[in-house]
Amino acid sequence: MATAATQLTCGLLPCQGFRGSTRGLRWTNKKVQCTRKAGLSIAAKFELKPPPYQLNALEPHMSQDTLEYHWGKHHRTYVDNLNKQIEGTELDGMSLEDIIRVSYNKGDILPTFNNAAQAWNHEFFWESMKPGGGGKPSGDLLEMIERDFGSFEKFVEEFKLAASTQFGSGWAWLVYKANRLEVGNAVNPCPSDEDKKLVVVKSPNAVNPLVWDYSPLLTIDVWEHAYYLDFQNLRPKYISVFMEKLVSWDAVSSRLEQAKARAAERETEEETRKKEVENVPNKDAAEVLG
Ligand SMILES: [Fe+2]
Repeated sequence: MATAATQLTCGLLPCQGFRGSTRGLRWTNKKVQCTRKAGLSIAAKFELKPPPYQLNALEPHMSQDTLEYHWGKHHRTYVDNLNKQIEGTELDGMSLEDIIRVSYNKGDILPTFNNAAQAWNHEFFWESMKPGGGGKPSGDLLEMIERDFGSFEKFVEEFKLAASTQFGSGWAWLVYKANRLEVGNAVNPCPSDEDKKLVVVKSPNAVNPLVWDYSPLLTIDVWEHAYYLDFQNLRPKYISVFMEKLVSWDAVSSRLEQAKARAAERETEEETRKKEVENVPNKDAAEVLG
């Protein structure tokens, strides 16, 4: 859809400098004004991806009615609103993940954040489940869970506690923590010896762990719209059924392998950058560090 708007200040990105892909993401204090691009043809960027199973495939644990409303209406609305919000702005053309990180704005969230994060969260949630899911993971994932939580049962206990105690709307997550992105956020401690481990976190409303540079592995939606049709107000029962009957440990294992590979790649890049700094005169070091 063409837009002929010229230099309309959109209110996005009021106080962040952002450049490059996720890999090169840096946060600065540089003022950036977001304007609508004049005369550009912009196509809708994000599509509503269906769950990787039929809408009745999770029954009797999650009903077709719930999927029809939750995916077909709630998720669709987030995607539609996001496309309207970014059209013609400087966010148009960014990946969904980068839009989330930029519009999170160090916790002082911008209007686009909620729709962008909810679009991402829901797709991730659908893919966290499968028909015939639940049970117990195996292999490397199970070993890391046992290493970092003491036992699989203790992990389940901690995950259920996070999901049930998230006040109001939000999400609970299992994440792989190997963050390298300094987002100037109090809940994003610098990388430490405690990195490269699994942790459980919970987040309010649309917030997801990408904003802290953690790698999400599993999530459960604890907004009331996720469980009210099937469980009314019984959130703990919904959480138990999710863990026992719906979790796709295959998906979680695959995400863990990707997260570990990404962390290793980042370490290699850091080492390369350090060597580059050591090999250039001091006056050029700042430029190499970016
Ligand atoms: Fe939801």
